[in-house]
Amino acid sequence: MAVSVEDFAPAYLGKDVDDVVILGGGLAGLFCALKLSPRPVTVIANAPVGEGATSAWAQGGIAAAVSERDSVEKHRDDTLAAGCGICEAKVVDQMTREASDRVRDLLGYGVPFDQDLEGRLKFSSEAAHSESRVVRVRGDMAGGAIMAALISAVRKTPSIRVLEGYIGESFLGEGRYVTGVLVRRRGGITRLAFPAKAVVLASGGIGHLYARTTNPHDANGHGLAMAARAGAVIADAEFVQFHPTALDVGRDPAPLATEALRGDGAVLVNRSGERFMESEHRDLELAPRDVVARAIYREIAEGRGAFLDCRETIGARFQEDFPTVFSAVQSAGLDPVKDLLPVAPAMHHHMGGVLTDASGRTSLDGLWAAGEAASTGVHGANRLASNSLLEAVVFAARVAEDIQGLMTTPRSAYWNEMDSAPDLPTQRNAEERAAISVLRETMTRNVGVLRDADGLKTALADIAEAEKACVRQSIKNMMVAGRLVAAAALKREESRGAHFRTDFPDEKPERARRSYLTLKEADAISAEVLQSKVD
Ligand code: FUM
Repeated sequence: MAVSVEDFAPAYLGKDVDDVVILGGGLAGLFCALKLSPRPVTVIANAPVGEGATSAWAQGGIAAAVSERDSVEKHRDDTLAAGCGICEAKVVDQMTREASDRVRDLLGYGVPFDQDLEGRLKFSSEAAHSESRVVRVRGDMAGGAIMAALISAVRKTPSIRVLEGYIGESFLGEGRYVTGVLVRRRGGITRLAFPAKAVVLASGGIGHLYARTTNPHDANGHGLAMAARAGAVIADAEFVQFHPTALDVGRDPAPLATEALRGDGAVLVNRSGERFMESEHRDLELAPRDVVARAIYREIAEGRGAFLDCRETIGARFQEDFPTVFSAVQSAGLDPVKDLLPVAPAMHHHMGGVLTDASGRTSLDGLWAAGEAASTGVHGANRLASNSLLEAVVFAARVAEDIQGLMTTPRSAYWNEMDSAPDLPTQRNAEERAAISVLRETMTRNVGVLRDADGLKTALADIAEAEKACVRQSIKNMMVAGRLVAAAALKREESRGAHFRTDFPDEKPERARRSYLTLKEADAISAEVLQSKVD
C-alpha cells in the first residue's frame, strides 16, 4: 500500500543507533521487551512503568481456551461473532491458538492466576463467551498482578533499559522508514532523540480523548497520532468500546465496575427499581457490551438513572471477591451491601488503531505496533471481553519474533547515548487546558455511544477550533487522534457493533469490511466539513 510521509520529525541519521526502541511501558511493551532479551532494548514510558498503563487497571483477565471442555475453535467463533462480521478471521485463529502458550509464559513470569487446590487454573465467565475461559487473579486484580510480575521480570533483565517519564512526540524518519523516536521529558522542555533500527509502538489506547473513561490519563492517543502523522494507515478507528458500567461517582478516570459483577448475578435497575435489560435482550445484563451500554445511556438520558444492584447476589462477599471495585465504591462513600451503585457508560477500549499484519508490522518500514495502539483486526466492531490482554501478549510476542528474525545478530551490546534535540515551547497554558476540555467533551457528546452526522461534524469543527490553541506536540497529537476517530465515524454510514449511528441505525451487509484511513484523508474530511459550515 502506498503511503505518503507527512510529518516526520527531522531524522538523526549517521549516528550509532539502538537495535530496538519500544514506546510504551504497558503490557505489550514489557512483554515484547522480555521476549526480545537478551537483545538490548530501550523501553520508553510516559510514567513509572505500570502506572500509566491501562493493562495495570484491567479487572477482567485473559481469555484462553485451556479448560478441558473448551476449544480454540469455540474461542475463535465467539471472537468472530462479537466482532460483527469484520474481524480478520485468520488472525483471530492465530491469536486464539497461541493463547495457551502465552498464559503459560505469564505463569512462568510468576503471575498468580487463580487455581484450585490441585493447582488447576480456575476459569470465569464473561459476556458473549460460550464457555468459562477467563483466567483471573483474586477476582478483579488480573491487570495489576500481571503487570507486577512483568515489571519485576523486566527489572531483573539487564538487556532492558527502562526510561520512565518521557512522552513520545514524533517518529524520526526518512521516506517511508521510521528511524527512531523523538520524546520530551515529562513536565520539562528537554527533547531527546532515540534513533533505532526497529521501533515498536505500544503506547496504549485513546480513552483520555473522552471526558468519561476508565483509562488512565496517559491513554491519550499520542501513539496513534504519531504514526498517522508519519503516514501510517489507521484501521477501524471508528470502533470505540464503551464499558457499560463505569461507576458514576464524579471521578476522572471513572472507576470500572467489572462485568464479572454481572457475571456473578448483579443486576441493572433504574431509579424506579425496574430491570430495564429485560426488555432489551434475552441475555439480560450479560448481553453484548454495546447493547448494555446503549440501554444504560438511554436510561440516563431520559432521566431514570442506571444502577448496579449487587446487594442480594453478591452482598457480603463483595469485598473479598471484588477488592478493586470495593475500594473504589467505598472511597465514593457507598456500601455495596446496602447501596445501589450509580453507573454510566465510559470509553474503555479502542478496537481501531495503527494497521498491522499478523507479525505486528505497520504500513511503515521499521515500525511495528502491538497492544491497544495496534489494529490487528482481531476485535472487529466489538471486542470480546478479556481478549485485549490476550491480544497484547500474543502480538507482542509475534513482534519480537519478527524482529529477531530480521536482525539475527544483535547490533550492539550497549545502548546508544541519548541525543538532545532542539527545544520547543512546552509550557502547558490555560488555552491548551481549555482545548483539551473541548476535545474531551465533544468526543463524549458527539463521538460517543450514539452518533449522527451532525454531531460528528460538530466534533470535527470543535477539534479544528481547539487545535488552534495548541502549542505542544503532545497536545496536538490528542487533537489529531480525535480527528481520526471522528472522521472514521462520519465515513461509516451504518451501525455495527460499538459504532451506532442514529441516522443509519441498521447494519449494511455491503459495509461488512474494515475501514482504512490516513491522516491526509481525515484532514480532507475535516476540511470539507469546515467548508460546508462556512457555505
Ligand atoms: O468488565 C471487565 O472486567 C472488563 C473486561 C475487559 O474489558 O476485557
